[in-house]
Amino acid sequence: MVIKKANYLISSPSVEKCPKADRPEYAFIGRSNVGKSSLINMLCNNSTLAKTSAAPGKTQLINHYDIESKASIKAATKSKWYLVDLPGYGYAKRSQSERNKWEKMIEDYLRKRDNLVNIFVLIDSRHEPQAIDLEFVNKLGEWQVPFTLVFTKADKEKPKALERHVKNFLDAMRETWQFLPQSFITSAEKKTGREEVLTFIDSCNKK
Ligand code: GTP
Ligand code: MG
Repeated sequence: MVIKKANYLISSPSVEKCPKADRPEYAFIGRSNVGKSSLINMLCNNSTLAKTSAAPGKTQLINHYDIESKASIKAATKSKWYLVDLPGYGYAKRSQSERNKWEKMIEDYLRKRDNLVNIFVLIDSRHEPQAIDLEFVNKLGEWQVPFTLVFTKADKEKPKALERHVKNFLDAMRETWQFLPQSFITSAEKKTGREEVLTFIDSCNKK
């Protein structure tokens, strides 16, 4: 897939304020600082599109990016779709009332957004399975929203440890899940996994 255009569109405080649901939409969620905004920039080949930060809690609203792509350079038809950058969970410095607000905004968005095709749940590949990530994917199961897993920051981990962390997370999921979702391994730094994620989006767009 070739990205022809990627523009920031709007930041919304609630699902009701989001742009018209007239095209396929793909959202990125995961722990605060896991690399959601960096992954969006890597996919779009634009390092300044989504704001990233070494300090967690940077992204606070539902951020829509307007994307135009082609299946290949020579393809005649363009696809239009949205990428959505969401605020992360598990940010320790947030107050209880801010957390409740986050939960309501995210649950409403994930359950009510009609054009949401897939949620990419980002997991930091440097860690053993974290309860907060497992709880979040179980919530998605409860809400019956489709998702895939993305193990991020692969450049920061040795291959053996990376493999072990991915396996351990999937094994932990197996305890409650009969079927495992598709998963990707990415590095925003090295552009690892870019083609795989874009090919997946392209195949969903065609359905
Ligand atoms: P919040 O919006 O605060 O929830 O964070 P986020 O999930 O959007 O993370 P962000 O993309 O802002 O990245 C957080 C930090 O991790 C930044 O310092 C990034 O440069 C770094 N980072 C993100 N992805 C990668 C990666 O693949 N490799 C390396 N080495 N660093 C990464
Ligand atoms: Mg962010």
